[in-house]
Amino acid sequence: MNAELTQCPKTAGGRRLVCITGASGAIYGIRTIQALRESGCEVHTVASAWGERVVVEETGKPFSTWMNDFAVSQNQIYDCRDFAAPIASGSFPLDASVIVPCSMSSVGAIASGVCQNVIHRAALVCLKEARPLVIVSRESPLSLIDLRNLTTLAEAGATILPASPAFYHNPASMDDLVDFVVGKILDHLHVEHRLFKRWGSVETPSARNV
Ligand SMILES: Cc1cc2nc3c(=O)[nH]c(=O)nc-3n(C[C@H](O)[C@H](O)[C@H](O)COP(=O)(O)O)c2cc1C
Repeated sequence: MNAELTQCPKTAGGRRLVCITGASGAIYGIRTIQALRESGCEVHTVASAWGERVVVEETGKPFSTWMNDFAVSQNQIYDCRDFAAPIASGSFPLDASVIVPCSMSSVGAIASGVCQNVIHRAALVCLKEARPLVIVSRESPLSLIDLRNLTTLAEAGATILPASPAFYHNPASMDDLVDFVVGKILDHLHVEHRLFKRWGSVETPSARNV
């Protein structure tokens, strides 16, 4: 068997899939793609119909314009209705995937094994192939249905990473808050970054204050 067909081609930072759905917090998805590109990763990406709508509502710019700005290759941007896209198959090598932000609708679809679009299919492929899958959920408060669906995904191997920034790194701006969440995402995608100061490093506020 040709090893190139079964292993991820070794681009500098590897290959990641970033999916954007219609939850609030589109900027987390956009910034994740930007940070992965800056880290030298090959980024494949897809937005749901409502994901595209929320990107415009919250950032004032269409998803396609952002992707153009980050020089994401056109053949690595998928149509969410396209179940024939490479990411729909386990034979397509990916190092890790993230859905950011992830709506409760998509959480429910994936937790019940229903593929309403290629994002759900790619997530289920990720789970069956035992690859890292990060779900950046965004809803508040959570209903019992949401909690049960998130538990199902966690039990199936996904990492549930709610879009909830911390404050112990003394954020001075919205960018700092966004970068904290994005940094946590990159940690779980196994990508090195310097998006926030880590607790216990000499740079942390606590170290500076003593
Ligand atoms: C501006 C806006 C913000 C939304 N925010 C959320 C949210 O934070 N969480 C959520 O679960 N759904 C949210 N929704 C609803 C989802 O977009 C809706 O459930 C949609 O069906 C999700 O589909 P998708 O998962 O295929 O993108 C929001 C919708 C709009 C228009």
